[in-house]
Amino acid sequence: MLDLLVRQARLPDGRGPVDIGVSGDKIVVIAPHIDTQAQEEIDAAGRLVSPPFTDPHFHMDATLSLGLPRLNVSGTLLEGIALWGELKPLLTPEAVMERALRYCDLAVSQGLLSIRSHVDVCDDSLTAVEALIEVRKQVAPYIDLQLVAFPQDGLYRSATAEANLLRALDMGVDVVGGIPHFERTMADGARSVTRLCEIAAERGLMLDLHCDESDDPMSRHVETLAYEATRLGLGNRVVASHVTAMHSYDNYYATKLIPLIAESGMHVVPNPLINITLQGRSDTYPRRRGLTRVPELRAAGVNVAFGQDCTMDPWYSLGSADMLEVAHMGVHAVPMTSREAMSWAFQSVTQNGAMAMGLPDPTIREGGPASMVVLQARDPIEAVRMKATRLAVIKHGKVLARTSPRLAALALPGRPETLDPADYAPVAED
Ligand code: FE2
Repeated sequence: MLDLLVRQARLPDGRGPVDIGVSGDKIVVIAPHIDTQAQEEIDAAGRLVSPPFTDPHFHMDATLSLGLPRLNVSGTLLEGIALWGELKPLLTPEAVMERALRYCDLAVSQGLLSIRSHVDVCDDSLTAVEALIEVRKQVAPYIDLQLVAFPQDGLYRSATAEANLLRALDMGVDVVGGIPHFERTMADGARSVTRLCEIAAERGLMLDLHCDESDDPMSRHVETLAYEATRLGLGNRVVASHVTAMHSYDNYYATKLIPLIAESGMHVVPNPLINITLQGRSDTYPRRRGLTRVPELRAAGVNVAFGQDCTMDPWYSLGSADMLEVAHMGVHAVPMTSREAMSWAFQSVTQNGAMAMGLPDPTIREGGPASMVVLQARDPIEAVRMKATRLAVIKHGKVLARTSPRLAALALPGRPETLDPADYAPVAED
């Protein structure tokens, strides 16, 4: 007797339809037809069943705070940081927890079950740190939540940031963060990268820096990060987040830099929703897109995973915990529209995010984790195109959320009465 049986699943690699048998928190068998009984059955009906979504870059301390204490009028990163600075003294642990837990509910409904959240440590009371450590504990049964000690106001620009960052790590925050492009000078930015890498090396931790989130073609901290990651042997424990300045680098310099990034073994996490809106704000026309060089990084063998960054906060008014929306924006903003690249965009918000976060391989396979999402789509490209409904969300063999399929009831003479939008597509040939 199995605990759970997902019937007629199509897998992201094109296999299927297959039945997926689950016992406890493991997938024990995948076969064209499984005869064994199960406690619970889900009929995927030929739809896509994928690993859960991952968001390797988020700010859960700020989420759902839109309008507090006011809205971002210019829409810039810098006004967002200033606005967050106005909100910080008003934060209470209860309010931070309430917003974060509400966001986690939304994330589960969207099949988003692994999140790396930065948490601002430039508040001497560490209110948000304490609140998010408690949230991490509460959601642990269903969300892998990693916290990054993030000195939002600059490791050196803020007088107490370094001490607070070390305190936050002592309290159990998982990952070392930083923001070199926000330090007072390029030299201070580079110094902060070295110091933060040394902290990560000394403590055996992962490191994830907001790195060159700027339109400044001279913002080159990612070069120092690649150097330090190599020097200290940090390798794939390092993430360079955003790296939007790479969009504006001289092409010759980019051809020197990208192999150094690949050699270091670090991951790159662009955030298409936020950076397509934040970057290029000081441009007239033409206006830069501000997305990093995804195809070139991929071609060099760098693991690239898209992140969401923000949902309804001082930097971004929209967002819905939907990593397919993130992948969809990535496809447009990079742009990358080959079928191979669009399939990759789906992988970037599932497997690649897990890899960037140092989590176990979530691929659906015998012996693998029984965590998956049933989507109202037949393949990864259709899932990205439709931002497909998550029909069922499963973690450790337990069904956490279900959503009814999106179906329209039509009242048109001589036409079908019901329309499933996923049926209105050519069948993918790849
Ligand atoms: Fe961020």
